[in-house]
Amino acid sequence: MGSILCPTLPGCHRGARRVWCMSWSMLTSLMDALYDTIGLNYANLRRPDARIAGTIANALGDAKTVLNVGAGAGSYEPTDRQITALEPSAEMISQRPASNATIVQGSAENLPFDDNSFDASMAVLTIHHWKDKPKGVAEMRRVTRDKIVFLTYDPAFRDFWLADYFPALITLDEGQMPQLQGYEKWLGKTKISVVPIPHDCSDGFLAGYWRRPSAYLDQRVRAAMSSFWALGDVSHGLAQLERDLKDGIWQDRYGDLRDLEELDCGYRLVETV
Ligand SMILES: C[S@@+](CC[C@H](N)C(=O)[O-])C[C@H]1O[C@@H](n2cnc3c(N)ncnc32)[C@H](O)[C@@H]1O
Repeated sequence: MGSILCPTLPGCHRGARRVWCMSWSMLTSLMDALYDTIGLNYANLRRPDARIAGTIANALGDAKTVLNVGAGAGSYEPTDRQITALEPSAEMISQRPASNATIVQGSAENLPFDDNSFDASMAVLTIHHWKDKPKGVAEMRRVTRDKIVFLTYDPAFRDFWLADYFPALITLDEGQMPQLQGYEKWLGKTKISVVPIPHDCSDGFLAGYWRRPSAYLDQRVRAAMSSFWALGDVSHGLAQLERDLKDGIWQDRYGDLRDLEELDCGYRLVETV
């Protein structure tokens, strides 16, 4: 693993201290501490998917220095660039595989870097957790010379079957995911593309098991998905899903999905142009 720098806790190195920041609402309070909890199994269940990694690497173009904001355990960091990984959770940092990346403990809203420090920056499945999204995006713009790339979720997307069992997912995403038009307001012209999710996606994010519905019945699988933590009691939806899988109702309603290799589940790549 590369060196870990902690601007807020000088002398803090991997595993030496945890940072718990409780704050503005119950949900964000939960989310702040969340990745020191979700993170416990993260590296096993949230393995980067090579096809999605290829999409992100292409979007980064020929950037040589890349800042990864909300880097988690380092998923999707291209190995052929000089990476600086910024992540608030010590637990997530501790799960990084060995790499040459420089690791900085901190938050998107206050990037401890000079203006124009990096050729490109990326933020993968993280912006919905930021307390101040416009500030975080402005910080990315400040420290990045050229391309900025986000992998995120379209909160207006309505075609993922899991929400039929857990309708609160819609409200949750409407509350936490920035509207896609917002990026253009923050960054000027952007290109937005669908990121289809492979049926055997190795990354266990929310839609990662779209063609493996019984996976959602597994508490360990759900525990690696921040949305399930945010929803709280999901016993009703789980019981319904279990019944429908047993009775063939899921197959009747959604069985056609089993013929597909990949699916648009609402994930989007947002790139500056
Ligand atoms: C779903 S994980 C994604 C991690 C990684 N990018 C990936 O694709 O596996 C979300 C990450 O965002 C981090 N995060 C939460 N709030 C943040 C903030 N304000 N600034 C930067 N990262 C944050 C969490 O600690 C967590 O590691």
